[in-house]
Amino acid sequence: MLKINKINVDLAGNHILRDVTATFEGARTIGIVGRNGAGKTTLLRTIMGLTKIRSGEISLDGTDLTSQPGHVRAALHIGYAPEDRVIFPTMTVEENLRLPCQVQGMSATQIDQRLATVLKVVPQLEPMLARSGSALSGGQGKMVALGRAVMIGTRMLMLDEPFQGLAPKLAMEYTEALARLKEIQPDVCVVITESNIKLLGSIPDQVWTIERGSIALNT
Ligand SMILES: Nc1ncnc2c1ncn2[C@@H]1O[C@H](COP(=O)(O)OP(=O)(O)OP(=O)(O)O)[C@@H](O)[C@H]1O
Ligand SMILES: [Mg+2]
Repeated sequence: MLKINKINVDLAGNHILRDVTATFEGARTIGIVGRNGAGKTTLLRTIMGLTKIRSGEISLDGTDLTSQPGHVRAALHIGYAPEDRVIFPTMTVEENLRLPCQVQGMSATQIDQRLATVLKVVPQLEPMLARSGSALSGGQGKMVALGRAVMIGTRMLMLDEPFQGLAPKLAMEYTEALARLKEIQPDVCVVITESNIKLLGSIPDQVWTIERGSIALNT
């Protein structure tokens, strides 16, 4: 279980996250909904250790993460698909998928097993494996970004506005992939941000609202 307690974050001198307290339990799918600029991306980046926090604590199963850098958090099996997806164009799709596990020093056998699981969750990636990262459409890039986050995110998966700009057919495929993930890895906690709650459909079991850097927990 990941807990954040009274987190405050400043960006460029502006107070962005305000006393954010929340508990992310395993086996949950949590939607975080808020308009543009509400602080969704900042919250996910803060959980990933990519922003500096002014005050507050973050802990995972009782271990304090507050001062742990981002690469340590990835080793905790938290997968993150940023809103700008960042697929490396000079690498193939398969290389993009394997990369985060290689960075973590996982063995080749472990990485092969994770890849096999990811291809069960997102079978659309199979025919794309040899394709260059530069040859993907925006929607395909989102599927690769999902697969890459699932490669490492066996405990927690954070998806930043995955449905933005996704054509209806791909949005349906993305939703089906998340349902398969929950069957294969029921204990994983999935966090999905959105500005338009309608795009989340019935995916989340819980929806929280973020407004001007504060979270209201409507569980
Ligand atoms: N690097 C930065 N420096 C200064 N201010 C920033 C920075 N990044 C974000 N902000 C500000 O922090 C606030 C929250 O931004 P954030 O990107 O977290 O919102 P968001 O909810 O993800 O919005 P969107 O729906 O547009 O993705 C906004 O007011 C934004 O202008
Ligand atoms: Mg954002």
